[in-house]
Order: sequence, then structure tokens, then C-alpha cells
Amino acid sequence: MERVEFSLLLILTLSFYCLRAESEGGLAIRKANQRCSAEERDALLDFKQSLSDPHFLLLSWDISEDCCSWKGVNCSNKTNHVIKLDFFVFSDILIAASLHPSLFRLRHLQYLCLSKIDFNQTMIPHSIGSLTKLSHLDLYSSGFTGEVPPHIGNLTKLRYLDLSFNSLVSYNLLWMSQLFSLQFVYMLNLNLTFATNWLHEISVLPAISILYLSSCSLQTLPNLLPYSNFSSTIEIFALGYNHLNGSLPNWLGQFKRLNELDLDSNYFTGPISFASLSFLCDLKFLDLSNNNFTKLSDDGTPLKCKEYKMRAIDISNNQLSGSIPEWVGNMRNLKYIHLQNNQFDGLIPLNLGQLTNLAFLDLCSNNLHGSLSEFHLANLSQLIYLGLSNNQLSFNMISSDWNPPFQIIYLYLRSCLVGPQFPLWLQNQKLLSNLDLSNCGISDIIPSWFWNISSQINYLNMSQNAIRGKLPMSLNIASQATIDLSSNQLEGRLPQPMNSVRYVSFSNNNFSSGIELYLNGNLSLLVVLELSQNHLSGEIHNSVCQMPSIILLDLSENDLSGEIPKCDGNVSSYKM
Ligand SMILES: *[C@@H]1O[C@H](CO)[C@@H](O)[C@H](O)[C@H]1NC(C)=O
Ligand SMILES: *[C@@H]1O[C@H](CO)[C@@H](O)[C@H](O)[C@H]1NC(C)=O
Ligand SMILES: *[C@@H]1O[C@H](CO)[C@@H](O)[C@H](O)[C@H]1NC(C)=O
Ligand SMILES: *[C@@H]1O[C@H](CO)[C@@H](O)[C@H](O)[C@H]1NC(C)=O
Ligand SMILES: *[C@@H]1O[C@H](CO)[C@@H](O)[C@H](O)[C@H]1NC(C)=O
Ligand SMILES: *[C@@H]1O[C@H](CO)[C@@H](O)[C@H](O)[C@H]1NC(C)=O
Ligand SMILES: *[C@@H]1O[C@H](CO)[C@@H](O)[C@H](O)[C@H]1NC(C)=O
Ligand SMILES: *[C@@H]1O[C@H](CO)[C@@H](O)[C@H](O)[C@H]1NC(C)=O
Ligand SMILES: *[C@@H]1O[C@H](CO)[C@@H](O)[C@H](O)[C@H]1NC(C)=O
Ligand SMILES: *[C@@H]1O[C@H](CO)[C@@H](O)[C@H](O)[C@H]1NC(C)=O
Ligand SMILES: *[C@@H]1O[C@H](CO)[C@@H](O)[C@H](O)[C@H]1NC(C)=O
Ligand SMILES: *[C@@H]1O[C@H](CO)[C@@H](O)[C@H](O)[C@H]1NC(C)=O
Repeated sequence: MERVEFSLLLILTLSFYCLRAESEGGLAIRKANQRCSAEERDALLDFKQSLSDPHFLLLSWDISEDCCSWKGVNCSNKTNHVIKLDFFVFSDILIAASLHPSLFRLRHLQYLCLSKIDFNQTMIPHSIGSLTKLSHLDLYSSGFTGEVPPHIGNLTKLRYLDLSFNSLVSYNLLWMSQLFSLQFVYMLNLNLTFATNWLHEISVLPAISILYLSSCSLQTLPNLLPYSNFSSTIEIFALGYNHLNGSLPNWLGQFKRLNELDLDSNYFTGPISFASLSFLCDLKFLDLSNNNFTKLSDDGTPLKCKEYKMRAIDISNNQLSGSIPEWVGNMRNLKYIHLQNNQFDGLIPLNLGQLTNLAFLDLCSNNLHGSLSEFHLANLSQLIYLGLSNNQLSFNMISSDWNPPFQIIYLYLRSCLVGPQFPLWLQNQKLLSNLDLSNCGISDIIPSWFWNISSQINYLNMSQNAIRGKLPMSLNIASQATIDLSSNQLEGRLPQPMNSVRYVSFSNNNFSSGIELYLNGNLSLLVVLELSQNHLSGEIHNSVCQMPSIILLDLSENDLSGEIPKCDGNVSSYKM
């Protein structure tokens, strides 16, 4: 506190000296260097006055300096007018009671970004429409509320418009109809519940290349789109998190330059018809996740492009049935495939193994069957995420000394048949962070090398196998990790607890000692401790009550003695 006051005093003293210096002859010299006009400087100072600036971000906005050199301000090199005002350059938030009219005296502004000012749930003034030279208007997350003033439609030079993450509503998009230069539109989280004709209103614009209307409460996407000017310019069409229903419209096929299509988290149904998308040769990102699509239509020659640019497909969390089409394996640029939580059945197409750029493959929670081996994975040198959990797959390597070409980070094999042997090929995997080998039919010991590659593991689940043997005295695992080794046949001493683990389950094994180490109150981050159904003996005493974060503590079905202590605090479930 004292230090803060001291530096404040220093600043005040220094500015006092500067002012004095100016009044004693510095003024003339400064005048010569002044590019900024008095009117514009005064407008900026008035605007500064309207802002509360607890972090002294606008320290450089000082009457004695040329306003063209103030932080966030730029002047034209030709006319010296202030042409750019950019609050995004500041590291912290400024607060305003409302948008002060002094701003509209900066009539030459071409670039205005008020993001980082919180306008405290006030309206965007109509006068915004007077800044007719603006080509860039960014009001991202600026705390505005109310209706978007149609006056923004007067800013016919606009190329970039961001109104995202305010509390704004617009009842139609007619006000945009004159914005012929508009290319980049970000209106995420703008309430368009009642803008039923939004698509027709915006599609006349001839230059739109990026359109983000995610989380806008959009209700309708028409089945027909008459000739639209923007179909030949649009590159990113993002309508995620709305209330759109019905089938995937065929007119998407007219978007010749489409690069990214996001329709995730809506209520779409019916087939994903790639025939209608077949000439989307430029499509790189496709996100149709979290809808109710029923199948991937596969007409044999789905995409008729020389080369597919597709990098990421996310169709997870739908009702897609049928087999995974072969053509997925022909999209050689794919890095990311997310098909989790559908009803895909059949075998995993062998040609997925040709996708040498693949980094992320998630096929969890489908009805896939068959087996996967090193042949599928031989060319996937970039793979860092593999999810096959909850299918009817077996995942067995044919040769015991297979050396994978990748370093996997996330490996989810829950309920795949992996055992009976512990997967030896993990031995050279040095980056493992999340490993789920639960319910994998492993009836082996955990090899000692495993505890040499485990130091970065945050999530380890090997529960529901028939894993035998003893654990080392200390487990080499990341801090704040989750370890679930429950329902196995482990025996001997419990390993020493690590101070920083969060979740430990050794329940339903045959551990017989070591419990005292867990009950000495030192486990400050432990949230869940499950040691039930073992043969642990020893005396429980009050120190069990000293784990500050514990929520679930289960010591039941052991051979423990002693009074069960009554702990207060946040333990919500106690079993002893
Ligand atoms: C704007 O002004 C800042 C300094 O205030 C300077 O670093 C930047 O290069 C200027 N930008 C343009 C486009 O003139
Ligand atoms: C104006 O001049 C400065 C300094 O020479 C330069 O850094 C800046 O990019 C120029 N700004 C414009 C808009 O040309
Ligand atoms: C923000 O608005 C609230 C409620 O209208 C008001 O109480 C508060 O003083 C305003 N804050 C500022 C900085 O103007
Ligand atoms: C700006 O737009 C509003 C609403 O669209 C309109 O009423 C007004 O006349 C326009 N002003 C100018 C100067 O064009
Ligand atoms: C959108 O605006 C309408 C009309 O003001 C309002 O009834 C509705 O609750 C708003 N929706 C959201 C998600 O804010
Ligand atoms: C948009 O398309 C319509 C219909 O073809 C055309 O009349 C109009 O001039 C186009 N608008 C612009 C700005 O190109
Ligand atoms: C689609 O949404 C609209 C508007 O919310 C609704 O009127 C219509 O019944 C919905 N259609 C289906 C098939 O759910
Ligand atoms: C999908 O359909 C089911 C059953 O028709 C329905 O219960 C569910 O709400 C729908 N989900 C979405 C995201 O549309
Ligand atoms: C892996 O690459 C080799 C050499 O290009 C190729 O012969 C083989 O078929 C590929 N494997 C798979 C599963 O695609
Ligand atoms: C471990 O996997 C089993 C099922 O395979 C699951 O029930 C359990 O919740 C998982 N444990 C943790 C901590 O996620
Ligand atoms: C594990 O690492 C330790 C220390 O680096 C080394 O001495 C030991 O041989 C390793 N064990 C195995 C099984 O690789
Ligand atoms: C549990 O371990 C004890 C020795 O500590 C052994 O006698 C017993 O057979 C084991 N039980 C099981 C089910 O493995």
C-alpha cells in the first residue's frame, strides 16, 4: 500500500515539473512538434474525462504532449487528423458511465476499437452513424445494451464490424443493407430472436467473407436461398449455438469459397448430404457437432475435387448411424476427426491409416467393432489423441515389440479389449497425459517401466481389470492427478500418497497395509479418497478430519479399528 502511494506521489510530482517546464519556454518547442489539432486533442481529453481509469492506463494522454503520440491514438501522416483510436492496446479495463459524445468530434476516425472499455450497460448512441469515415468498428465486449442503432448502417465504408458479446438485440438486419464494403462480421451473442429474415437481409451484401452469428438465438434457416451476392464471397459461415432446425440446406453448396462451416449445437436433423457439399473443395473446417443428424450420406463419389483441403471434421454428438465412409480416409489433409457419441457401426476403415497428418482421432461411444492393430496406426506419426472407448473394439498389437511412430498424449481405450497383456508398446510413449485403460481385460502386472513414463500423467484409469501384483512405494505421476486403480487384484502396501494428487481410488483390491500414510492430514489437495473393499488394518483417528479439500472419503469394508471420528467441514460423503 505504502509503495503504491509513493509511486503515485512520484507521478504527481513529475507531472508538476513537466507542466512547469512547459510554461517556462518548452511550449514553443513542443508547438513545433504538435501534429494533433487542438479540437481533436480536446475531444480526446474530454473523452478521457468520461472514463474512470483506476490503473492509470491513459497516463500518456497528457495535455502537454502531441495527441498523435498518445497510446492508442494514431494520426494520418498526410493530414495529421486522428484516424485511429484503439483501446485494445491497453492491458486493463476502463469504465465509463456511457459513451461520451466527445468521441463524435473525431470526425476523421477510420479505425475505432472500444473493446476494453466497459460502458456499464448503456446504449450505443445514434451518433455513431456520424463517423462516416470508419472502416473498422470494434465494440467487442464493451458492455453495451439495447437495440443496435440502425445508424451503423450509415457507415458505408465499414469493412470490419464486431458487436460481439454485449447485451445487444436487433429485430432485423435491414440496417446492414447499405454496407457494401463489409467483409468481416462478428456478431456473436447478439440477440436475433426476432430477425426472422436475417439471411435474406444479409445475403445481398457483395463482399462478406467472414460471418459469425454464433449464440444469436437464430430461429430459422430458410430452405431456399434465392440468388445471393455473398455466396461467391463467403469463406467462414458460423452459426453455432442457435435454435436452427430442419435439414441441412442445399444452398450451402453454392458457397464456392467456403472454408469453414460451423453449424454446431443446433437442432438440425436428417442426413448430412455431402452430395450437396460436393464442390466445397476449399472447405477446411466442418463443425456439425451437437445436432440430431441421422446419417452421413455416401453416394460413392462424394467430393469431386482434385484435392481435399479438409483439415478438421467434427460431427460428434449426433445420431449418425451406418459405417464410417471410406472417403474420410481420402482427405489427406485431415488433422482432426471427431465422431464421438454417434451410432456408427461396422469396422474402422483401414484407410484412416493413410492420414499421415492426423493428430486427433476420437471415435469413442459408437458401435464400432472389429480389431485395430499396428497396421492401422503405422503411418500416423502425428497422432497425439486417440479415443476408441466404449465400442466393441479390440486393440491388440500383433507383434510384441511394435514401436509406434507417434508420441501419444491422450489415449482413451475404455472397454476396448486390450489385454490380457499390459500394452508393451506404451513403453516408448514419453508424453502421456491422459490414459484410460479401464475395463480392458488386462490380467497382468503393471510393468515397472510404466512408472518411468508416467511422470506427466494427469488422468490414469486402469480400473476394472484383473491387474495383479504390488505397486511401487511411490507413484511417479503429475501433480493434481486423478488415479483410479479400483477393482483389480492389487496387493501389498498402498503406495505412498503424493501430496498433490486430487483423486485416488484403490477400492476393491487386496491391499493390506499402508493406510496410516493416507490419514495423517497432509493431503491438502485431495478431493476424493476411496480405499474401500481392501484388507487394510490400523486405527482411524481424528487426523482424517484434517484434509482441507476432501469431499468423498470411503474407507468402508476394511479391517480398520477405532472410533469413527466426527468431522465437520465439507466432507459430503463419509464411509468408514
Ligand atoms: C500508431 O501509433 C503507435 C504509437 O502510438 C505506433 O506504434 C504505430 O506504429 C502506429 N500505427 C500506425 C498504423 O501508424
Ligand atoms: C506514419 O508514419 C509512421 C512513422 O514514420 C509509420 O510508422 C506509420 O506506419 C505511418 N502510418 C501510416 C498510416 O502510414
Ligand atoms: C453503472 O450503472 C449502475 C446502475 O445503473 C450505477 O449504479 C453505477 O454507478 C454505474 N457505474 C458507473 C461507473 O457509471
Ligand atoms: C443515419 O441512419 C439513420 C437510421 O437508418 C437515418 O435516420 C439517418 O437519416 C441517417 N443519417 C444520415 C446522416 O445519413
Ligand atoms: C432476446 O430479445 C427478446 C426481445 O427483447 C427477449 O424477449 C429475449 O429474452 C432475448 N433473448 C435472449 C437470449 O436474451
Ligand atoms: C446484389 O445482387 C442483386 C441481385 O443480383 C443486385 O441487383 C445488386 O446490385 C447486388 N448488390 C451489389 C451491391 O452488388
Ligand atoms: C423449427 O423451428 C421453428 C421455429 O422455432 C418451429 O416453428 C418449427 O416447428 C420447428 N420445426 C421442427 C420440425 O421442429
Ligand atoms: C434429438 O432428438 C431427440 C429425440 O427426437 C430429442 O430428444 C433431442 O432433444 C434432440 N436433440 C437435439 C440437440 O436436437
Ligand atoms: C502406410 O504407408 C505405406 C507407404 O506409403 C503404405 O504402403 C501403407 O499402405 C500405408 N498404410 C496404411 C494403413 O494406409
Ligand atoms: C474409470 O473408469 C471407470 C469405467 O471404465 C469409470 O466408471 C470410472 O468413473 C473412471 N474413474 C474416473 C476417476 O474417472
Ligand atoms: C526407470 O528409471 C530409472 C531411473 O532413471 C532407471 O534406473 C531404471 O532402470 C528404469 N527402469 C526401467 C524398468 O526402465
Ligand atoms: C489377498 O492377499 C492375502 C495376503 O495378503 C492372500 O492371502 C489372499 O489370498 C489375497 N486374496 C485375493 C483374493 O487375492
